[in-house]
Amino acid sequence: MRELDTNMGDRMNCAGSSFDDLVFFVNGKKVVETNADPEMTLLTYLRRTLGLPGTKLGCAEGGCGACTVMLSKYQPHAQKLLHYAVNACLAPICSLHLVSVTTVEGIGSVARQLHPVQERIAKGHGSQCGFCTPGIVMSMYALLRNNPTPKMADVEEAFQGNLCRCTGYRPILEAYKTLTVESGCCGGKGRENGCCMTNGKAEEKETDVDLAPRLFNAADFAPLDPTQEVIFPPELMSLSKTQKTCSLHFRSDRAVWLQPANLEEFLDLKFKHPDARVVVGNTEVGIEVKFKNMLYPVILAPAFIPELHRVTHTYEGIVFGAACTLTQVGEVLKEAVEALPPYMTQVFIAVLEQLRWFAGQQIRNVAAVGGNIMTASPISDLNPVFMAASCKLTLMDKDSSRVVQMDDTFFVGYRRTMLRPQEILLSIEIPYSRKQQFVSAFKQSPRREDDISIVTAAMSVTFTPGTCVVEDLRLSYGGMAPTTVLAKNTANKLLGRCWGEKLLEEACSSLAEELTLDPSVPGGMVIYRRTLTLSLFYKFYLTVLQKLGGQGLNVEEVRSNFLSATEIYHQEPPSSVQIYQEVPQTQHPDDVVGRPVMHLSALKQATGEAVYCDDMPLFENEVYLALITSSKAHARILSIDESAAECSPGFICCVFAADIPGSNTTGIMHDETVLADGQVTCVGHIIGAVVADTQLHAQRAAKAIRIQYEELQPIITIQEAIAAKSFYQPIRTLQKGDLEAGFKQADHILEGEMHIGGQEHFYLETNVTVAVPRGEDDEIELFVSTQAPSETQSLVAMALGIPANRVVVHVKRMGGGFGGKESRTTLLSTVVSVAAHKLRRPVRCMLDRDEDMLITGGRHPFYAKYKVGFLKSGKVVALDVSYYSNTGNSRDLSLSVMERALSHMENSYSIANVHGRGFLCRTNLPSNTAFRGFGGPQGMMFAENWITDVAQSLGRPADEVRRINLYQRGELTPFNQVLEQYTLDLCWDECLSRSRYRQSRAAVELYNRQNRWTKRGLAIVPTKFGISFTAVFLNQAGALVHIYTDGSVLLTHGGTEMGQGLHTKMVQVASRVLGVPCSKIHISETSTQTVPNTSPTAASASSDLNGAAVKNACQLLNERLEPYKSKNPKGSWEDWVKAAYLDRVNLSANGFYKTPDLGYDFETNSGRLFNYFSYGVACSEVEVDCLTGAHKNLSTTIVMDVGVSLNPAIDIGQVEGAFMQGVGLFTLEELHYSPEGVLLSRGPGSYKIPAFGDIPRKLTVSLLRDGAHDKAIFASKAVGEPPLFLASSVFFAIKDAISAARAESGIAGPFRLDSPASAERIRNACNDRFTKLCPVADPGIFRPWSVQV
Ligand SMILES: Cc1cc2nc3c(=O)[nH]c(=O)nc-3n(C[C@H](O)[C@H](O)[C@H](O)COP(=O)(O)OP(=O)(O)OC[C@H]3O[C@@H](n4cnc5c(N)ncnc54)[C@H](O)[C@@H]3O)c2cc1C
Ligand code: FES
Ligand code: FES
Repeated sequence: MRELDTNMGDRMNCAGSSFDDLVFFVNGKKVVETNADPEMTLLTYLRRTLGLPGTKLGCAEGGCGACTVMLSKYQPHAQKLLHYAVNACLAPICSLHLVSVTTVEGIGSVARQLHPVQERIAKGHGSQCGFCTPGIVMSMYALLRNNPTPKMADVEEAFQGNLCRCTGYRPILEAYKTLTVESGCCGGKGRENGCCMTNGKAEEKETDVDLAPRLFNAADFAPLDPTQEVIFPPELMSLSKTQKTCSLHFRSDRAVWLQPANLEEFLDLKFKHPDARVVVGNTEVGIEVKFKNMLYPVILAPAFIPELHRVTHTYEGIVFGAACTLTQVGEVLKEAVEALPPYMTQVFIAVLEQLRWFAGQQIRNVAAVGGNIMTASPISDLNPVFMAASCKLTLMDKDSSRVVQMDDTFFVGYRRTMLRPQEILLSIEIPYSRKQQFVSAFKQSPRREDDISIVTAAMSVTFTPGTCVVEDLRLSYGGMAPTTVLAKNTANKLLGRCWGEKLLEEACSSLAEELTLDPSVPGGMVIYRRTLTLSLFYKFYLTVLQKLGGQGLNVEEVRSNFLSATEIYHQEPPSSVQIYQEVPQTQHPDDVVGRPVMHLSALKQATGEAVYCDDMPLFENEVYLALITSSKAHARILSIDESAAECSPGFICCVFAADIPGSNTTGIMHDETVLADGQVTCVGHIIGAVVADTQLHAQRAAKAIRIQYEELQPIITIQEAIAAKSFYQPIRTLQKGDLEAGFKQADHILEGEMHIGGQEHFYLETNVTVAVPRGEDDEIELFVSTQAPSETQSLVAMALGIPANRVVVHVKRMGGGFGGKESRTTLLSTVVSVAAHKLRRPVRCMLDRDEDMLITGGRHPFYAKYKVGFLKSGKVVALDVSYYSNTGNSRDLSLSVMERALSHMENSYSIANVHGRGFLCRTNLPSNTAFRGFGGPQGMMFAENWITDVAQSLGRPADEVRRINLYQRGELTPFNQVLEQYTLDLCWDECLSRSRYRQSRAAVELYNRQNRWTKRGLAIVPTKFGISFTAVFLNQAGALVHIYTDGSVLLTHGGTEMGQGLHTKMVQVASRVLGVPCSKIHISETSTQTVPNTSPTAASASSDLNGAAVKNACQLLNERLEPYKSKNPKGSWEDWVKAAYLDRVNLSANGFYKTPDLGYDFETNSGRLFNYFSYGVACSEVEVDCLTGAHKNLSTTIVMDVGVSLNPAIDIGQVEGAFMQGVGLFTLEELHYSPEGVLLSRGPGSYKIPAFGDIPRKLTVSLLRDGAHDKAIFASKAVGEPPLFLASSVFFAIKDAISAARAESGIAGPFRLDSPASAERIRNACNDRFTKLCPVADPGIFRPWSVQV
């Protein structure tokens, strides 16, 4: 080893060359990278350098799994291959030397052959927008490579690190269940003659549900044949076997990557570079580099050092090298738990319990145990256990080593340890437990799977043998201070005491004193976190008490109704049923309308071949754009200094307001700027942009721009807006009947209020635009991920000052939209177009997840105050309600959103006298916008809240109060629309019977009597959702159908495909009308040059509108073909087309449709607001852990009226996907804003959408049969948005469970529970002896970390 200097000019590796070639294999092909950049991730390399775009970028922080690939390594010492899933977004390419990478493209393709994991997710309807699909495919693939016969629990574990925003997960699990031992299908393994399903050997249970038609036929699936898997590259095998370990060295102009060959070299390097960053899994360092702007010029990778990867069993415990991965630690500990007597493995079990909920598998497969310790995060999940167990750490530098115990001296400050700069952590010893020792570990996070802790804890108690006298006690907590802490005072006080009620009391009051938090503490949730410290101790107390009792010691007996508090979290495997009406037997087999046809792009999505905007190869001369956004909520811009950016590598130019050739005015309501001009009105307001040669250079240059502001007073929350009367006009009202008379008639009057938090769309594909100037006549082509191509076209034309006919917008597909790409996509596309116009070069920008969340707004937070008058029977006779929405810094679609909220304010209840007002609060937040449901869910949520209040105040079952208020057929809504073809009563009755509501209610009550600390709750909730854009002019659509002379059909219509299966349904419609198979019909894209002036794909109405337009166009073509069919009735389609063509018939037709009879006027409360209503009912059951606030979704039954379904697979997918998005809205997803208006939750790490584990364990979805309907295409009904609100049944089931908990403390009657029903809110609402010890701080005396906006 020669002298090393950071310039590395003289650095030599053992091959004798200065810098090393990085050698790895991708999909079997050798890659030799001679310029490996230490900061480049595998994801960027795959997508940009190798042109493999199948692996997707969803977050760049290891939180979504869209980038999952499989790595394989040969381990010479064990002589075996290791396959494991990783997040390509966090894997540095330099860590891949002699590694084989398998991406989704490597395992199968549509043209070659599909891999069973690709085929099954597609045919099982588990891919909607498809953006998550490659990642999910690769997680499943990696699982099967290690375990060809997994259980469902293994599948769920494999998906802990994957998110999907569209499907609601059920179809993915159901599709992959066919590959598990639980499937009843052998998957082609171990049986003669292939798959058992094709041989008719599968056992069939014959219940009514089993006899229902299936959405897919497992017998169609190709069997899994592990012998056919891609082989490990033979060249890599021999390289791995023969190459002697030698140090590696890669560098760029900013950083150097050193991979020493042995420990001595490693310590030497650390001595010479004390500031060098040790990198193992890069799951912490990668985040720091990407999101915290950190630069580590010297990176030390100890991948080759055996001492850091070694596992040694000693007399004291098991010693893990610091670089052992968490997966490896888990495997070793599991083996030990199986092999050793239970008393020795208490600590191991506690570590395993923490690992169970530690990140996702992709992270655990690479993250090191030493990395977790050395990160010294106050919310590390392992450090509390290591501390409580007094683990020993071996620290080493070049000259010496020392062993230290993990106690409160190890962490010396926030993310700082006692290690000296030249030292490294060599290993950790996890000890065996002793005979009288009991250890438990707890983690409480907003979401159970893959989430960072709110509070995490580990507790260890040792008793004097044969007694219940405490000899040693260690209580370790994370999330309660800047470091992991030991509650030493409390522990000391309890030494020598008997484990009993008195000890418990003293422990709690002492812990409440010892573990306090400043009310402004980062992370907030102060009362909750403090309460948790006590509640978790209480769980530990009961657990130990029970174990002591089990040993025959004389301790207080744990009451049987307290036992559930000691249970370790477990879930049943998920099960589901889907029920739909099959097409009539008389329907022609070629007519696919009504059949569960697979999403037309599903196979391509599963193989990574489906092309999303950013998957397009770079255009010649293309450059990249990064946005410059405001860091202030309300301010005047004093100066902008570009000088530092101009000097940064790759810089091309800046773009500011002065560069806009046309109008800087933009937005749906023309009240926004393309680029801020002098003033900013929210954090994230776009001020300008930097264009550079690459994304990285553009982003670095943008960060170098310095802006000076003069701050102005911002308005952030609804309450602040109300106080300042900061409202946009008009203030909408909707009123019917005589309110005063209604209240007079009422036996009771009740008032209440509620706040519903906003929601981030979290489409897996962030906003992206590629703008390509065409070089003449100002023509410009845009490739955009947008639901609104025409709006994009017109706002881009305005900004560029050119006619709309020069702008062509193409939309192939989106990786999810959900309303988030309806109007806000133009924020980006206008800026990118201005830059492209200025430079006359193609410009691209795909927003990073944090930027997307910061800039683009989401669902409107709502606050409502209500007054309800009702009779003794529970019948509501008067409602007075005021809605306030947090609109943000522009009007965007907020008035329409409010109109929908108001028009849904009674949900499904008939109320004679109503008065609703809607205030649009103008605040300094990014403008909020459309989101699935468009205000309807908020409007209805308040209704369900006051109806629950009514029931609770009367002490009557909520389902009865709901039922007596439910609309009757033919009644009038508050906006005077008659409920025709009403089916809600049918849905209600079917839901009651399918959910076995009465039996479930009795079972819940019994459970609640038997359990004090866990409670179950049940709720059944209806929904009625009006279908049509409330802006009448939008209720139109166009289609263009070409028939080519070979008989193939090219179909275009005004709608865009975002995963909802619109194109599939449109092809089904065209196929029926033209009478040709779907295979002859193709949709290439949506484009402004084929169908002009389109409405955004929104309001659930796209199938209705575009379907009718497609039908219209096809009918025109049919009419033109009719003479040729009559002339040659036995001819083929091709014959007729040919004949018509030769006869000079126009084989291209334009279709059009507008919804008839619409036209409502809010001023006069007259006219028809909606074309029709979609109805549904859901019943959910939950279980709440009253001590932690965690809840489990036990079961949900949904009955949804979708009319005569065009495609039951797609419709059920929409129902389930919407439902799970609603589950996120009402129970999980929380946007945290600082009092200054800064969005604090900007990625999957801090913003939690539902994961696989959040689906109800039993999920039944039934599409209502025989519901009369004739308002939309082929008697179908809209389905995109209406089911979302049904997730409120989970919220109200939680509220039901909380009521049962409160009853234990003698509290009855209505109570306020804001949405979402997060673990924090649930815990705080379950008043008990522990919450009393943690009083709320006076709100006036501190500045909270986050505010309710
Ligand atoms: C999506 C995601 C989910 C996560 N979930 C959790 C979770 O549930 N619970 C939790 O506790 N954490 C979680 N983390 C944090 C992180 O995964 C862990 O802290 C992990 O153990 C870090 O290991 P690593 O090998 O990736 O560390 P790296 O990023 O490689 O290194 C982390 C730090 O440790 C130092 N270091 C590493 N090894 C040594 C050594 N031998 N000697 C000296 N210094 C060393 C490095 O210099 C660096 O400062 C999560 C992270 C992500 C991205
Ligand atoms: S992109 Fe890698 S996990 Fe999200
Ligand atoms: S299909 Fe999973 S995110 Fe769209």
